[in-house]
Amino acid sequence: MNVLDRLETTLRVRGGHRLSGSVETHGAKNAALPIMAAALLAKSPVTLHRIPNITDVSVMRQLLEALGARLRSEGPGTLTIDPSNLSSYRAPYTLVRKLAASFDLVGPLLGVFGRAEVPLPGGCVLGTRATDLHEHAFRALGAEVSNAHGYLIATAVARRLRGGEVAFRQPSVGATKNALLAAVVADGTTTLRNVAMEPEVVDLANFLVAMGARVRGHGGDTIVVEGVPELHGVEYEIIADRIVSGTLLLSGCATRGDVTVERCVPEHLALTLAKLSECGVKVTSGTDWIRAEAERITGGTDILTAPHPGFPTDLQPPMLSFLCTCPGISTVEETIFNARFSYVNELARMGADVRVAIENNTALIKGGAPLSGAPVEAPDIRAGAALVVAGLAAQGETEIIGLEYVDRGYERLEEMLSALGGQVQRSSGISPVVEPLGTFETTAYPSLAARGPSA
Ligand code: UD1
Repeated sequence: MNVLDRLETTLRVRGGHRLSGSVETHGAKNAALPIMAAALLAKSPVTLHRIPNITDVSVMRQLLEALGARLRSEGPGTLTIDPSNLSSYRAPYTLVRKLAASFDLVGPLLGVFGRAEVPLPGGCVLGTRATDLHEHAFRALGAEVSNAHGYLIATAVARRLRGGEVAFRQPSVGATKNALLAAVVADGTTTLRNVAMEPEVVDLANFLVAMGARVRGHGGDTIVVEGVPELHGVEYEIIADRIVSGTLLLSGCATRGDVTVERCVPEHLALTLAKLSECGVKVTSGTDWIRAEAERITGGTDILTAPHPGFPTDLQPPMLSFLCTCPGISTVEETIFNARFSYVNELARMGADVRVAIENNTALIKGGAPLSGAPVEAPDIRAGAALVVAGLAAQGETEIIGLEYVDRGYERLEEMLSALGGQVQRSSGISPVVEPLGTFETTAYPSLAARGPSA
């Protein structure tokens, strides 16, 4: 074993096989994580269904246990959280550093203890992770907020938070969730304006309502919360993961396949499906399924990521990989995160012709040239998915290092793809270290080594 080699779990994708058939998607990571945090607000146990078996959920489980909650699973996808013995308002850095979504704990801890101490998320591979919008909301609800020794410390000035007016300068998924979590047990009415409208925010609000919270307007740009003294336990099923559903459809399209995703919510993917249709994909859907037939791709399209109902930033990487297979020019402009194109350097190893103009965060894709399998490295969850989509379309074998990122957001992705006829295998062994290519003249990415929690 060479000193530069290391023991890795990798994904081996043998490309060039058309995917076809049906596959079920799993529960949404970005709904499950805040809902698990929200369970701390209940006075009695909460039982959750369709919890995805992914590593981000394992980290959140450990965090809740570190705070004193008791957790147990009664079968796949089911998790009971008993928060009655909650004993700490301080989240340990050793766990928080692995999961940016741990910041969702601030709202519930403020609600339960009137105090929260949670490490700041800092930066991650996608860009800066600011917390000013969260802090703005906590202050408007009557908390004092400070940063000390890498922690955000929030304390309710009165015994309970009090309702208030919060106007966000821009929609933020995390800040909307945190403000909602803090407001449900505050004293009085809170109005949240210019909030995020993502389906996962709506699912969190629906869960809180099921626990006895009084929330209205979720799904629109203003949410009104009338605080209640306490919330009760409940049984609740998490919504389908629209990003996993989209990744599975894009995997099929990249191989010119015919893939149906079941147990999903088509309207959560409305713009993504419209963009696939623009490329020539025949898209049909029913109440809880989507079929994408991609035998006749006519060209590419232009993508602009934006808050929901705009094109989801988390599907930007797998969409870009699919566009590499579409003839003609496509563009992808990223408006949510400022460093989300680093995986393009890895796609270049596979022969993709993509140029990124850093000054306007836009990628220009010259699609249609065949991709070829290569060893590549995933820098974050969705970039890992992008490399899988490209690998499925490429001729030959692609070995993807960094599978631990994919496992943070996808439950056994290789099994879902194999069920569709994909040749995808997880393997552990000694992998050569991939030397990064030089950056393109128009690109300047942070080092792939500078890793941290990503979305
Ligand atoms: C969530 C999702 C992530 C998704 C993202 C956008 C989870 C666990 N993660 O991340 O998968 O990509 O929404 O759909 O649900 N911002 C500020 N100040 C703040 C908060 C955010 O400037 O206080 C900025 C961020 O730097 C970013 C943008 O707002 O540029 C959007 O962030 P936000 O919507 O908060 O995303 P997350 O909740 O972190």
